[in-house]
Amino acid sequence: MVVELSPIDRAKFVAAKKASEFVEDGMRVGLGTGSTAAWMVRCVGELVRDHGLRIVGVPTSTRTAELARDVGIKIVSLDEAKWLDLTIDGADEFDDEFSLIKGGGGALLQEKIVATASDQMIVITDAAKEVENLGAFPLPIEVIPFGWQTSKALVEEMLISMDVLGQQAGLRMDGDAPFVTDEGNHILDLHLKRIGKPRDLALVLNQVPGVVENGLFIDICDKVVIGFGDGKVEVRDIHEGASSEDQIQFLETDNLFRDLDDE
Ligand code: A5P
Repeated sequence: MVVELSPIDRAKFVAAKKASEFVEDGMRVGLGTGSTAAWMVRCVGELVRDHGLRIVGVPTSTRTAELARDVGIKIVSLDEAKWLDLTIDGADEFDDEFSLIKGGGGALLQEKIVATASDQMIVITDAAKEVENLGAFPLPIEVIPFGWQTSKALVEEMLISMDVLGQQAGLRMDGDAPFVTDEGNHILDLHLKRIGKPRDLALVLNQVPGVVENGLFIDICDKVVIGFGDGKVEVRDIHEGASSEDQIQFLETDNLFRDLDDE
């Protein structure tokens, strides 16, 4: 079966395809989680299978590990790899300083550890995720199950004194049960509407007992690759303060688009 891609999927795909060009022979590569990152894993898998690219991948979730194995990427743990050359991952929001909200897929803890252990992080995204201020997308935080209601109450109380427009926290559900992360924890989604000082908030959130990590990625991302539905891609680099554009050609009859499972 050949899948017809929606404009948003085309945008995600071309961003992923462009980012895969930054993967070089011999690299240790962090593999992100989510629908955009899944495209990247497929693109890198194609380079491994059809072009002899030799890399090892460190997945950021069990989902990504499974997909990476399926497409032929050799998987190692972060402890085996020790340090990574590059991590490519999606994001839920990004601003002009390349601060991110991540964790919409519930994998923020492994994603942050892996990205932080990399020389370079590239975020792949569609244009709709660019924001002036972070916070319209609910900010995920990972909390341990023990006493999670107390952690939630402490977070909500702490938010009153922070530069945010909302203070409500909701337990993420998976059907009738709380969502459980790969580490066996829960996720609280913070409905903040607007985050005035993301750097301060990221530091303070991790001081609350029971909070393991938050989905604010500050000073971690180096490049953002933005895809568009017409195949255009824009690459922005925070260090060079520059951006470049490219056009990605693709055929939906390509093997990459055959028999896709829903991510
Ligand atoms: C996973 O936990 C997230 O951080 C994802 O990277 C983020 O939610 C983006 O996902 P999509 O690429 O599916 O939009």
